[in-house]
Amino acid sequence: MILQANPANISKAAEILESGGIGAFPTETVYGLGADVFNIRAVAKVFQVKQRPVFDPLIVHVQSERQVGEVAAQVPREARELMRKFWPGPLTFVLPKKAEVPDLVTAGLDTVAVRFPAHPAAQKLIHALKSPIAAPSANRFGRTSTTDAASVAEEFGDTIDFVLDGGPCGVGVESTIVKFGPREVRILRPGGISAEDIQKTLPGFKVIVALTKGASGTPEAPGQLEEHYATETPLIYLKGSLKDIQPEFEKLCEEFRKKKGSLPRLGFLGWNKIADTKIFPVSRVLTPSGKMPEAAARLFASMRDLDRQKLRIIVAEAVEPKGLGLAIDDRLRRAASGRDVIAVLKKLLK
Ligand code: TXA
Ligand code: MG
Repeated sequence: MILQANPANISKAAEILESGGIGAFPTETVYGLGADVFNIRAVAKVFQVKQRPVFDPLIVHVQSERQVGEVAAQVPREARELMRKFWPGPLTFVLPKKAEVPDLVTAGLDTVAVRFPAHPAAQKLIHALKSPIAAPSANRFGRTSTTDAASVAEEFGDTIDFVLDGGPCGVGVESTIVKFGPREVRILRPGGISAEDIQKTLPGFKVIVALTKGASGTPEAPGQLEEHYATETPLIYLKGSLKDIQPEFEKLCEEFRKKKGSLPRLGFLGWNKIADTKIFPVSRVLTPSGKMPEAAARLFASMRDLDRQKLRIIVAEAVEPKGLGLAIDDRLRRAASGRDVIAVLKKLLK
C-alpha cells in the first residue's frame, strides 16, 4: 500500500506502527523499513521480512537531539559538536545504549546506533508515533537499497503494512556511521557526510576510516559485509574507466563473437558517458553533469534500473573515492564483491 506522505497518511502510518505494524518511509538517504523501537514483536517482523540475520543491528531514528536520551546512556562532548553541525542529516552515532532498548534492535551489543534524519516526512512520522523508530534500509538483506517508493513496493509487496511515498531520496547513499574513541572518531561506514567534513569539524581528533575488521578480527559495524548492496545481475566494478581495459576487453569480445555468434547482453554504469552501444546495448550514467552529489543521488536507482534490463552482467566504472565518492565506491565495491571483468568474460566464453 503506497501512501502519499501527506499529514493524514503520516498519522495513519503512525497508528499502524503504534499497533505493532511495520512500514517503509522516506529519509534523505534511502528508504527505511520501520518499527516502534520499543515493540519487540514489530522489530522481529522487520528482521523476518528483510530476511536479515539477527547479528546485524538496526539504526534508531529520532526527531530531535533531545530524543537521543531515550535510547542512549551517554553522548561524548565531541559527538554533540558533530550533531549540532550535521543534524538533522546523514550521520549516525554509535553510542552506549540504554537498558530499555531491546537487545534485538542492537544485536545484543552494548551500543546503539542513532540518527536524526533530515526528511520532513521521517521527522513527522517519528513525532506522531511519540517513540523513536528502528529502521534498516528498505531492501531485502544484501540487496541494493531503495531510493523511491515504487522500488520499495517491488521489494516487499504486501509483506509490509505501508510505504510512505516522499519522492526520490536527495542524498541517495546511506548515512555515515561514526564511533568515538579517545581523541579519535572511527568511520564504520562511509556515507552522506564525508570524512573530510568530519575532520574539519574536529581538527584535534584523528578521523579513521575503519571499513574492514577491527583489531579483534570481527567487523565493528556488524552489517558491513564484503558482499552487500548486490544487484540480481552480477555486477563488475572496474578499477578505473572502461578505456583502461579497452584493448584486452575488445579482444575478448571479438573472440566471444567468433565462438558464440554474438555477445552476451552487457550493461554499463558509467560516470558521465554511455559506452559503445555495439558492445553495451544498455548504458546508464551516474551524473551527466559530472557532479558527486548527483552521482550519489542516482546510484541505487541506476543499479535497480539496470537490474530490470535482463542483462548477463553489469560493468560499472570506478568512482573516485574522495568526499561523497568514498561512499559510492564502497557500495559498488561491495555490490561487485571482487569480481574481475576479464575473468568473468573468460568464464562466459567457456
Ligand atoms: O541512511 C541510513 O543510515 C539508512 C536510513 C534508513 O536511515 N539506514 C541504514 O540502515 O542504512 P541499515 O540497516 O541498512 O544499516 C545499518 C548498519 C548496520 O548494518 C550496522 O553495520 C550498523 O548500521 N550498526 C547498527 N548498530 C550498530 C552498532 N551498535 N554498532 C556498530 N554498527 C552498528
Ligand atoms: Mg542496508
